[in-house]
Amino acid sequence: MADMSLYPILIHPDPRLKKASAPVADLSDELCKLAEDMLETMYEAPGIGLAAPQIGINTRLIVMDCVKEEGESPRPMAMFNPQILESSDETSVYEEGCLSIPDVYAEVTRPKEVTVQWIDPKGAEQRETFDGLWATCVQHEIDHLDGKLFIDYLSGLKRQLITRKMVKLKRDRARS
Ligand code: NI
Repeated sequence: MADMSLYPILIHPDPRLKKASAPVADLSDELCKLAEDMLETMYEAPGIGLAAPQIGINTRLIVMDCVKEEGESPRPMAMFNPQILESSDETSVYEEGCLSIPDVYAEVTRPKEVTVQWIDPKGAEQRETFDGLWATCVQHEIDHLDGKLFIDYLSGLKRQLITRKMVKLKRDRARS
């Protein structure tokens, strides 16, 4: 097995989290290695999804694994240039969190089902319809590629309070 690298995850507020990411033009070994390292970083955190801008790389790459049941085999997914082709009118509400906004959770309403197209690490085009937690997660991660965070769905006041909390968290972490 190749050596894994764990990446530090950026904490909001950070300009790199607000930037739109660039599409992948050519799939390289480096990018595939990056996807593996991002999965490792995500599992280690632990989290169920991670987008490249969260480690300071503004490239359209996300990873996720929403398998939660104990004993069920993991399903690590890496998606290059993921795109939502279709969204259901029906919505669902999930309490979302984000590795870039530690210990903050809030309910977000999103389409209940989405059909997503992406390029997998072998360079093949894939298409799948997700629902439940997978649908929420893939939408949350694709948002990251457009510089959007889940707190952007909340009221301005809530967002300010959370941002202030994160500024303080970063200051405390820098001190210790
Ligand atoms: Ni996130």
